Amino acid sequence: MKRAIFKGVGGYLPEKIVTNADLEKIVDTNSDWIIQRTGIEQRYFAAEDQATSDLAAAAANKALTHAGLDAADIDCIIVATTTPDLTFPATAAIVQAKIGMKVGTAAFDVQAVCSGFVYALTIANSFIVSGQHKRILVIGAEIMSRLLDWNDRTTCLLFGDGAGAVILELAEGKGDVNDRGILSTHLHSDGANTNLLYTTGGPGTNGISGKLVMLGRDVYRHAVQRLAEVVEETLLANNLEKTAIDWLVPHQANKRIIESTAEKLGLSMDKVILTVARHGNTSAASVPLALADAVENNRFKPGELLLLEAMGAGLTWGSALVRW
Ligand code: UT7
Repeated sequence: MKRAIFKGVGGYLPEKIVTNADLEKIVDTNSDWIIQRTGIEQRYFAAEDQATSDLAAAAANKALTHAGLDAADIDCIIVATTTPDLTFPATAAIVQAKIGMKVGTAAFDVQAVCSGFVYALTIANSFIVSGQHKRILVIGAEIMSRLLDWNDRTTCLLFGDGAGAVILELAEGKGDVNDRGILSTHLHSDGANTNLLYTTGGPGTNGISGKLVMLGRDVYRHAVQRLAEVVEETLLANNLEKTAIDWLVPHQANKRIIESTAEKLGLSMDKVILTVARHGNTSAASVPLALADAVENNRFKPGELLLLEAMGAGLTWGSALVRW
């Protein structure tokens, strides 16, 4: 049976660090509140002359180096982003050229906001399992700082910029849960709740990008519930007990939401990849950045079972079960 295995992982964070103390100077807030409510201690902001494709290309190059591959070895690139360089063309096409992939390889974006990487990973997995592509670069890249409303203290301190990239490669498996690679993916959305998290503009309405609006408490409630459901669904689909999971690799929006998911899995926090303190919520970049952090720190051993999950605007949510 065809499987998609992880061949390389890379993350990129811009140079500029913005601490909670920096934000105290411009927003009516305090660092203790931010840490208590979210676990965030700092975030990174892109430089003025950096575009989302620059962050994505930097992460992609790191993933290529990690995999020992060249850009010419990749036959498809998918970028998950909610902050594309331009309304069109796709940021993936821009990155394809920036990193020197072959002309003619496939390139497109996926928009599912904070769940975007899990959605993109699902598509890439399907392409590989169906035999359409052999090596796919899947990137989550965001410059969320450009969507922030600095008059809204309930949202402006939550988000940061960054990019994470993985390379999926075709491998043969036996077709059971002991195979390496992506074992299952699960995607969901609830368009009845678009009003809980959105921007105040877009190319098809008022022609501006708009600013981020979030009803935080409601999103929090949905996140805790939906993530618990999707974790349960993932275990059931693979006929596994929760004790089978070695690592939780969650979307990094709020430490308390992550703790709630870990608790339901009976996982201690040292089995959870936690990066939210260092870079806040980087939307679609969050899960691949967590993967990159874990790989850099040699945390995963071959054969271990990883549960990736995310939840975001849409509302959208999803998971992927991966044997490393
Ligand atoms: O990535 C997509 C998914 N996104 C998420 O998962 C985010 C989900 N939501 C959250 O993480 C949390 O709801 C927040 C971190 C956004 C907010 O935490 P909360 O515990 O839900 O706080 P709250 O909105 O209920 O506000 C609690 C209090 C309020 O004061 P009162 O009404 O209790 O007197 C707020 O006015 O905290 C106050 N507050 C602040 N205080 C200092 C709100 N923002 C701030 C602030 N600094 N920045």
